[in-house]
Amino acid sequence: MYDDVKNIEKLFSLDDKELLALADETRRKYLGDGVYLRGIIEFSNICDKRCAYCGISADNTLLERYHLSSEEILKAAGHIASCGIKTVVLQSGETDSLDDDWLARIIKEIKSSCDMAVTVSVGEKSFETYKKWKDAGADRYLLKIETTDPEIYSGLHPGMSLENRKRCLSDLKMLGYETGSGTLVGLPGQTVRHIAADIKYFNDNGFEMIGTGPFIPHKNTPLQDAKAGDVALVLRTIAVTRIVMKTVNMPATTAIGSMDRDFRDEALKWGANVLMPNFTPVPYKRLYEIYPGKRCISEPAGACAGCMEHLTEGAGRFIDWSRGGSARNEK
Ligand code: 5AD
Ligand code: FES
Repeated sequence: MYDDVKNIEKLFSLDDKELLALADETRRKYLGDGVYLRGIIEFSNICDKRCAYCGISADNTLLERYHLSSEEILKAAGHIASCGIKTVVLQSGETDSLDDDWLARIIKEIKSSCDMAVTVSVGEKSFETYKKWKDAGADRYLLKIETTDPEIYSGLHPGMSLENRKRCLSDLKMLGYETGSGTLVGLPGQTVRHIAADIKYFNDNGFEMIGTGPFIPHKNTPLQDAKAGDVALVLRTIAVTRIVMKTVNMPATTAIGSMDRDFRDEALKWGANVLMPNFTPVPYKRLYEIYPGKRCISEPAGACAGCMEHLTEGAGRFIDWSRGGSARNEK
């Protein structure tokens, strides 16, 4: 039924009440009321890429760059484990200067010292590099496609190609990673049809995780004057993704928590089932500024963990402290 973009697009024509009810019912039926937690460590903001929307783009020469040492990363991972959280996300900008073997050693060390799933999110790499990290014990990988529309994609990503990004996602699936992708909602020129096509691509490829957030303009980027993504459309996109992909794991993203108010509780109601508390150490946290107004940057590392219960309960849910691997593979 959802192998046709038109049928996905039709879901967007439901009114808010219908869409919310259908997404909420689907989420409850396939996943229950539990919300999984993923502790994220943004270990470096060094980036070679020049994505037009992104505040840590190589073109933003005003930004101070940082890179955590392996000791700092392991300490933050230990902090996540001590909070009872069973997934660590290692995220950074995308750079050829990243030492693959160094990251492999960190993955191995975390896997041997903590009972945690490791998710890596460092951009486009070769099959061999992805294999090295998988062999080191990595469980999951996040690489958003951002948009599947070739024209919008090429306009925003100088020197990059949609084909290579798709190749990366297919390599990750082939290597047995639980694979996450996602869309930036509200990119200039993007329509609901484009978003429906993104969701079809995610469903066709069987990704286990989908992160959907609003585009938020950053002043030191070419898109500084563009309009921010519309929260209502982000929530509707999450809902449609839930209805189409059923068991997929979907975060209420930090970006959706960074709008004029924190909409993460709403995202949980519209189909999301994951929260990602930030464990990046304080001196660095504010430098991982992919978009402005990012929430929690002045709170101590891990402060978000304390807010999670409040957020989930506010949405009528509870925290599920298990690893929260994909239910998609068990269907
Ligand atoms: N607004 C919202 N999200 C952004 N990202 C990058 N720049 C922005 C922005 N200006 C998101 C991208 C990327 C993730 C790490 O951050 O979707 O995949
Ligand atoms: Fe980050 Fe509350 S969610 S400090």
